Amino acid sequence: MSQTEPPSQERPMKARMELAAKMKDEDKLYKRDGILYSTILSPPETLDKLKDLEARDDDVVLVAYPKCGFNWVVAVLRKIMNASTGKNEALPDRPPLVEFLPPDVQQKLSEMPPRRLLGTHLHPDNMPASFFSKKPKILVVFRNPKDTVVSYFHFMNKNPVLPSAEPWDKFFSDFMSGEVPWGSYFDHALAWEKRFDDPNVRIVTYEELKQNLPEEVKKISEFFGFPLTEEQVNSIAEQSTFRAMLETSNKSHGNLGSVFFRKGEVGDWKNLFSEAQSKQMDELFQSKMAGTKLGAQMKYDLYCQ
Ligand code: A3P
Repeated sequence: MSQTEPPSQERPMKARMELAAKMKDEDKLYKRDGILYSTILSPPETLDKLKDLEARDDDVVLVAYPKCGFNWVVAVLRKIMNASTGKNEALPDRPPLVEFLPPDVQQKLSEMPPRRLLGTHLHPDNMPASFFSKKPKILVVFRNPKDTVVSYFHFMNKNPVLPSAEPWDKFFSDFMSGEVPWGSYFDHALAWEKRFDDPNVRIVTYEELKQNLPEEVKKISEFFGFPLTEEQVNSIAEQSTFRAMLETSNKSHGNLGSVFFRKGEVGDWKNLFSEAQSKQMDELFQSKMAGTKLGAQMKYDLYCQ
């Protein structure tokens, strides 16, 4: 069994950054079906073509709302797949987000040998339909909304492809109303709540990963059917701590290393939230997520009070 990843894109990251440097902030996002997307990374022709993407039942699919720990779990999955298959595939220069792949690169996905690692930040309703009809296993990562919005704010300010998010108060209210790239956090959460008991879907939280990484590595490898020894599980967990990943971030993410690996903490929201904002988020969480299984899994009272 081999594993592989989408071929690198036609327009390298450097060219995208140069394009971003020349673009005005107000042109960096556009709206499609009520949701904001990056003009440079996910232009309409890319999202149009995605509808045709043919998933396979043995694909390894990773889904996360932005800033919930996607890059962390990509790295964990690559290590799991390498350890389990005995291969040591070179890291591609970008994460495997299908909505960043131009149409001609998407076309080439069909030529890739199994098992493909495919990721997305898209809302499930906007994911290629075959991701559900072909029933590949889908791992979904969530993070408490307070840390997510703070991480998102810093990320937007440091990533040239996205517009600046300043000032914080404005970004906070945009996040609350879903006026941020990839749309509303709560729309994503409620859509996955509907699939919570789907045997092909497994949800893990950022906080669970922080709490007991070896245990979560083991569960993820079992979910996707990649057998690992206990020694391999522990070694992967050791190489996947925030500190370890920050150290190799220049290699994995180039100049954006310190942008993707910023603090890696639970509770950083306390440094930015006002009391009123905290209360506002508590009320929104309660109104959207009260009584849901995903809401309970998130342990909001523990991490957001
Ligand atoms: P912070 O901005 O709070 O530091 P994504 O990959 O979805 O964009 O998520 C980025 C967030 O995950 C960042 O959060 C980043 O620091 C954190 N992260 C990345 N690798 C991590 C790791 N190994 N352990 C803990 N957090 C990590």
